[in-house]
Amino acid sequence: MVDYNTREKVIGRGLTFDDVLLVPGYSEINSIREIAIDTQLHPTLRLTVPVVSANMDTITGEDMCRAMYKHGCLGLLHRFASEAELIEIVEHLQAEGIVFGVSVGVNLDDEKLFNLYLSREINIYCVDVAHAHHIKVRHRIRYIRNAKKDAVIIAGNVATLDAAKFLADNGANVIKVGIGGGALCSTRVMTGCGVPQLTAIMNCAKVKQKYPDVKIIADGGIRYPGDITKALAAGADAVMIGNMLAGTQQTPGLIIKKGTLSKPLFFKRYRGSASMEVKADSGRSPRFVEGVSIDVPYRGDVGVVIDEIVDGLKSGCSYVGAMNLNELRGKGMFIEVSSSGYIEGTPHGASDY
Ligand code: XMP
Repeated sequence: MVDYNTREKVIGRGLTFDDVLLVPGYSEINSIREIAIDTQLHPTLRLTVPVVSANMDTITGEDMCRAMYKHGCLGLLHRFASEAELIEIVEHLQAEGIVFGVSVGVNLDDEKLFNLYLSREINIYCVDVAHAHHIKVRHRIRYIRNAKKDAVIIAGNVATLDAAKFLADNGANVIKVGIGGGALCSTRVMTGCGVPQLTAIMNCAKVKQKYPDVKIIADGGIRYPGDITKALAAGADAVMIGNMLAGTQQTPGLIIKKGTLSKPLFFKRYRGSASMEVKADSGRSPRFVEGVSIDVPYRGDVGVVIDEIVDGLKSGCSYVGAMNLNELRGKGMFIEVSSSGYIEGTPHGASDY
């Protein structure tokens, strides 16, 4: 029985990407080309670049799944469309041998979609809910495992070690970490709940002590390639990104033209999955809105973004003295930065005088 009167109410300090830097370490690496950034998320799922595209309806549709596969990453198809539309995409992707994953919810009516995927021999499933430390997630993971023993089950989102253990105990292979840190999330302001992302990753990654084969995807809040290096050094095996891919050619949705005839400006929509807009489009109630939607500048081919990520990550590994991601996780040490240290670390030459 917990004694609520005497229990410590503040259980720790939460850090996120901007609060820390990776400390440079001794290196014997001759060339950045020697550094390997591949990751094995499951015995049957290896990525040459540790990036998963967010399963949001303005990030991952058919074209993004193809692009992710082409660049050695993983596309996770969103679930905010009709069964017929989703199955059509799946059939197109399968006809060309693309490796991708799908998303499933935890409610009774999500079972029909899952069974359709199952009948099409889909092997990678993401059980995707805002708060996965929940009995319905246990049921869904077990349901999938029962139906398909060798499925790769990614489950999330969670932000504590207890929750990560809960998912692993119930058979998840990969745990998706991140509550309220995404670019379009309003969860923390609406609910007061969440855990700063770096701390969430470090805590959840401790699940590997009991379950060495379980992998971690750090999901949300990544704005720069350097955040990816930090997330992986903190214990993640891959990152999920939305914002960094938003506005690229391969995201679903049309290009929006603004500005003037002589000075046109081009954008694409980026919508939070729990935003009013997505809720309305998918026929859900406009209550419990915990996300926003924005127009982001159109940015062309997603391949350029992936190249930038690869460059930043490999270079980050070389500063740490890590030949691969295992070494990055092992050798990577953080130093907490002061607010002036943070300012010093961002490009600031333009304001010098
Ligand atoms: P980034 O920062 O990469 O984050 O854009 C993508 C992740 O954000 C989460 N997500 C949401 N979280 N309300 C939330 O609280 C929302 O409406 C919402 N939409 C997306 C999700 O985990 C995604 O992968």
